Amino acid sequence: MSELNKIALKIISNGKGILAADESNGTMTKRLEAVNVNSTPENRLLFREILFSSESMKKYIGGVILFDETINQTTSSGKLIPDLISSSGALPGIKVDTGAKILANSSDEKITEGLDGLRERLKKYYKLGARFTKWRAVYIITEKYPSILAINCNAHSLARYSALVQESGMVPIVEPEVLMEGNHSAEICFEKTSEVIKKCFDELILHKVDLSGIILKPNMILSGDQSINKISNEEVSYKTLECLKNSVPSEVPGVAFLSGGQSELEATKNLNLINKNNNTNFIMTYSYGRALQQSALREWSKNIKDKVSTQNIFNHRAKMCSLASKGEWSSNLENL
Ligand code: 13P
Repeated sequence: MSELNKIALKIISNGKGILAADESNGTMTKRLEAVNVNSTPENRLLFREILFSSESMKKYIGGVILFDETINQTTSSGKLIPDLISSSGALPGIKVDTGAKILANSSDEKITEGLDGLRERLKKYYKLGARFTKWRAVYIITEKYPSILAINCNAHSLARYSALVQESGMVPIVEPEVLMEGNHSAEICFEKTSEVIKKCFDELILHKVDLSGIILKPNMILSGDQSINKISNEEVSYKTLECLKNSVPSEVPGVAFLSGGQSELEATKNLNLINKNNNTNFIMTYSYGRALQQSALREWSKNIKDKVSTQNIFNHRAKMCSLASKGEWSSNLENL
């Protein structure tokens, strides 16, 4: 078993998943302003420190993805953030892309940037304690998109990123996110997501990436958020499993889904069914941002000094997601 494979398994095995707390300052500002909290470096740190020092970190969180600002911050008790995370047994990770920018010659679409100087940045992050990384590519669904151009360019970048990350001794999270915005059907989501993921693996293989040392972070197969033909949670699980079974090579140790705008409950319910019906050899867990933090953030915003209530909410959500990653969740467990 390679060192990278061991790291990947440590993050996603045994009912653990990933806390995606790597919102850029721009995104975090939107989240904080939505609950009437000022987005200062101190407040961003305060909320994250409350989550990272929660009891649930030990049992349910195998890795935390950080943003550059956070990995360099120190807690109120003088501990470095990566050390706080490691002390719970979880691994610190870092978002290393520099964002999705307009794709030239297909200006409605995006290409994720951040390859320039990446090797040097990775060395710095490894020294700070990071053992895994994230790079997110985004794709829109419309009648003409995603284009072959967007699919190919983003797959190429994800592969170059992954090769550099493995060279530096860390596990790359490969995140091709087909967005849920739109009125498309789940069948179209299935078709486009399959095409996107297959192309990513073609490129990862071409770039000699060790597939046993990555974690795939895809979207679930859902109908568009504006679609009038919603499919059931059971169908989401079957379609998602079929898509991954057909497009992910068997060496990949596991899949950690993004929540992508699903509510906390939907993201938990769908993950639970995916695990109940899992007919693949892949571990299927969570790498949720909003679906782990939304209620905790709302609670915290009522009184940003109230650590205990915020942690209670977060601990509960993390536990529910962990149960779902084993197919052991049920709705009656939701009552706190
Ligand atoms: P959401 O779960 O909120 O989609 O965030 C996950 C993530 O890391 C997106 O890149």
